[in-house]
Amino acid sequence: MGLDMSEPKKYRYLPEEFPARNEVVGVDTATLVNMLLSAFADEVLAWYQYYVSAYAVRGNISTELEDVFKKIAEDELNDHAKKLADRLQDFDVDPPDFRDLWQLSKCKQTELPEDPHDVDGFIIAGILAERCALTSYREIFKYVFGKDPVTEEIIEDIISDEAEHETIFRNLLSKEGLKRLKELEKKD
Ligand SMILES: [Fe+2]
Ligand SMILES: [Fe+2]
Repeated sequence: MGLDMSEPKKYRYLPEEFPARNEVVGVDTATLVNMLLSAFADEVLAWYQYYVSAYAVRGNISTELEDVFKKIAEDELNDHAKKLADRLQDFDVDPPDFRDLWQLSKCKQTELPEDPHDVDGFIIAGILAERCALTSYREIFKYVFGKDPVTEEIIEDIISDEAEHETIFRNLLSKEGLKRLKELEKKD
């Protein structure tokens, strides 16, 4: 019998009932769990975006950039996604089926340039992904601030990493790339 790829498996995500957590006061657990699941999906998709970027990018500084993409991809998966999955487990929530990741993600994936030599394009895609992540994490931080110190600390750590990632990407942009980024910012 082959694997049934059509229907996502639910595992214990989501459980019938969330366990009571004494460290969490004044927060709707279902809302918090949804936010964490969405952030988890963003992290896995960001990991994949950077993983693909590391292999796809060609041309000037591509070797350096390949290392940067791989290093940041590592942070997204083995640090951020892991911290979120561990926190979700405190609420009896398992990582979602991979077929649900796209739907759960708010940031989805930033579109990568068609031209593999468009080095700035890959970097800009990274900057946009980091900015989207920062927006979501600020929202989660606001939601749990003073009410769930455990999640608050995790989110605070991740926010400082994402801010650093954005800076690393920005500093790799060419002068032309910076101009492109500014044009994009004007459109927002
Ligand atoms: Fe991340
Ligand atoms: Fe990041």
